[in-house]
Amino acid sequence: PQALQPEIAATPEFTFKVAARDGAARTGAISMPRGVIRTPAFMPVGTAATVKGMYPEQVRALGADVVLGNTYHLMLRPGAERVAKLGGLHKFMNWPHPILTDSGGFQVMSLANLRKLTEEGVTFRSHIDGSKHVLTPERSVEIQNLLGSDIVMQLDECVALPCEEKVAEKAMRLSLRWAERCKTAFGDHPGRALFGIVQGGDVPHLRVESARELAAMDLKGYAVGGLAVGEPQDVMLAMIETVEPHLPQEKPRYLMGVGTPDDIVKSVARGIDMFDCVMPTRAGRHGQIFTRFGRMNLKNAKHAEDPRPIDEQSSCPAANSWSRAYLHHLVKAEEMLGKMLLTWVNLAYYQDLMAGLRSAIAAGRLDDFIAETREGWERGEP
Ligand code: GUN
Repeated sequence: PQALQPEIAATPEFTFKVAARDGAARTGAISMPRGVIRTPAFMPVGTAATVKGMYPEQVRALGADVVLGNTYHLMLRPGAERVAKLGGLHKFMNWPHPILTDSGGFQVMSLANLRKLTEEGVTFRSHIDGSKHVLTPERSVEIQNLLGSDIVMQLDECVALPCEEKVAEKAMRLSLRWAERCKTAFGDHPGRALFGIVQGGDVPHLRVESARELAAMDLKGYAVGGLAVGEPQDVMLAMIETVEPHLPQEKPRYLMGVGTPDDIVKSVARGIDMFDCVMPTRAGRHGQIFTRFGRMNLKNAKHAEDPRPIDEQSSCPAANSWSRAYLHHLVKAEEMLGKMLLTWVNLAYYQDLMAGLRSAIAAGRLDDFIAETREGWERGEP
């Protein structure tokens, strides 16, 4: 089990300290009034003010230092002003630790109807009730402030790949102008942070320009956006390698919406400090799990009479207590507990992987750790 008390304490100011490096990889801690985020960090996704199927204290006990919330979903339901009236998102969902909120642009593009993007912002209709809304850089920051977010993301435009260079360029430049507007709207909050988002599609010189211009804005952290949007993994990794030298070494780097365990280890090796992804939670609800032995599908009939737990060495009760046969039954019967237990298994694996990466970087043995981890995935389930 991971120690929940990091050596570095919460601080009144938002700070990031790199404790050790191994190649391009770093391990360290982001510190702020609500607590410390040990990096590299995986942030479980809590879109609608809940990490689906998990109690907050369970998420915390797995070693998560921060969860992600979504401006888009929360502005539509229950509404940012209502959350603020009820004391903010931390209190609302009973998660007293850091929260990062995404800005809404990406979710508008993937979920909302009748979207219209202009210089001013984006207008759209809710996927829930068809109501009309406007999201500008200023309103996105205002909503994230109402929620009480510790790490606020700029509003950006993310294009799906493949796309024409002209389209990627236009979205990247608009995102830069929106970053400036978000910076002005956010103002000065020593204990909280506004992160910029690098865009530029799969075009290296656009990525470099985006990273340089954002770096010049002196924000407290930088995300790499617009990846894992339909491109092959080698393109994603190439874009990370292109951008990395242009992002300030002393600030955290966050790869948005990524990814599989394999994507994560490869990105950590290329200098990424933070990740979020629906993969462990969403896959768990569909009977798919991530383990030391690679991926398993609990729907598969081969588990129907298997009395063994998923992994008796895991410290997660869902992985070490119930039989594969029982989990198979719950998944087949579409029982709510099946989704809960498999989400638990997956978040435990992701957090254990991050803890392993942090220790390996601190010990200067990241390559060996990755090789051993990969061997386990390739050997397959016992
Ligand atoms: N989540 C995954 N990718 C992105 C992105 O490019 N921008 C934003 N805002 N959120 C994301």
